[in-house]
Amino acid sequence: MVTSVAITGAAGAIGYALAFRIASGALLGPDEQVRLRLLELPSAMGALEGVAMELEDCAFGTLAGVDLADDARVAFDGVSHALLVGARPRGPGMERGDLLAANGAIFRDQGAALEAVAADDVRITVTGNPANTNALVAAHHAPSIPRSRISALTRLDHNRAVARLAAKVGAGVADVRRMTIWGNHSATQVPDVAHALVGGRPAPDLVDAAWIADDLVPTVAQRGAAIIAARGASSAASAASATIDHARTWVHGTAEGDWTSMAVVSDGSYGVPEGLVSSFPVTVVDGEWRIVPGLAIDDVVRARIDASIAELVDEREQVRALGLL
Ligand code: NAD
Ligand code: LMR
Repeated sequence: MVTSVAITGAAGAIGYALAFRIASGALLGPDEQVRLRLLELPSAMGALEGVAMELEDCAFGTLAGVDLADDARVAFDGVSHALLVGARPRGPGMERGDLLAANGAIFRDQGAALEAVAADDVRITVTGNPANTNALVAAHHAPSIPRSRISALTRLDHNRAVARLAAKVGAGVADVRRMTIWGNHSATQVPDVAHALVGGRPAPDLVDAAWIADDLVPTVAQRGAAIIAARGASSAASAASATIDHARTWVHGTAEGDWTSMAVVSDGSYGVPEGLVSSFPVTVVDGEWRIVPGLAIDDVVRARIDASIAELVDEREQVRALGLL
């Protein structure tokens, strides 16, 4: 069997990192064949041809073929995964939400194209910023695609928080379980270690509240900006890696006793208004995610979640005003 995976913005920085790893089996596994459907703007088709040449030259045994397109309805035809990366990145001094006007319409058009031509089992992952609200726009324009198949990326934030906690307590990243990111992929996001375990021990027994408030939360929430300041360009390899982690977990599931963070269409859980695309702790079994129910949330985390929800509500108003909803 060959699975078709679309990558938008495939000649961009993230796309370039993503395509080769997926072609080599990092998403579907070493025994599955993947067909890459690469979408770019007409102006970037020359660069995309170069990406395709390099993919060919890698002679990946897991790569069944590569199709290039500058039309979303061609690229998305029959795809089971749509990795929506192509969008403008922010520069220094910008917040991700500042990109709504520039990027929102991309996700209106791509949502409509997915509605028209994607495979019945399509799973959509929005990486392009502002990812949560772009996913909201795509979902609106793809009304027959189940809401459970439309998501946005907060796995990069999740991975950043796992790495930071592991480093703090001197553990390996594989020892950290049950990390949670709530809310928006933005400066208001809520990294939450209240339920995390390190080597089976509750994280709150290993780190104090001051470190969580003064180091973990701001460092993770501002990591994207720190990378832009350092590199002069936004995160790319780590964003590609997190996009693969997200989609792979969605297919292969979370490990027993663990969960991950995904921005998904809210069902009203944890006071997040129904329909907003917000990050939650989720388990995944047989390709279906489920929000982890019944977690206790203290007042500090509750206030942070409420601020992030308020930002998502505001972004929804902005895309309404732009005529995208
Ligand atoms: P980039 O500028 O290097 O590449 C973007 C590519 O998208 C370009 O090649 C461009 O031609 C293409 N593109 C633009 N509009 C398109 C369209 N309508 N259809 C198809 N392709 C289109 O940017 P990048 O560094 O790859 O970042 C891409 C996006 O991902 C940005 O919005 C960035 O902010 C976001 N991002 C998100 C996360 C996350 O965790 N959610 C992490 C890093 C970056
Ligand atoms: C990130 O978190 O690295 C990305 O969203 C890029 C950005 O603008 O910060």
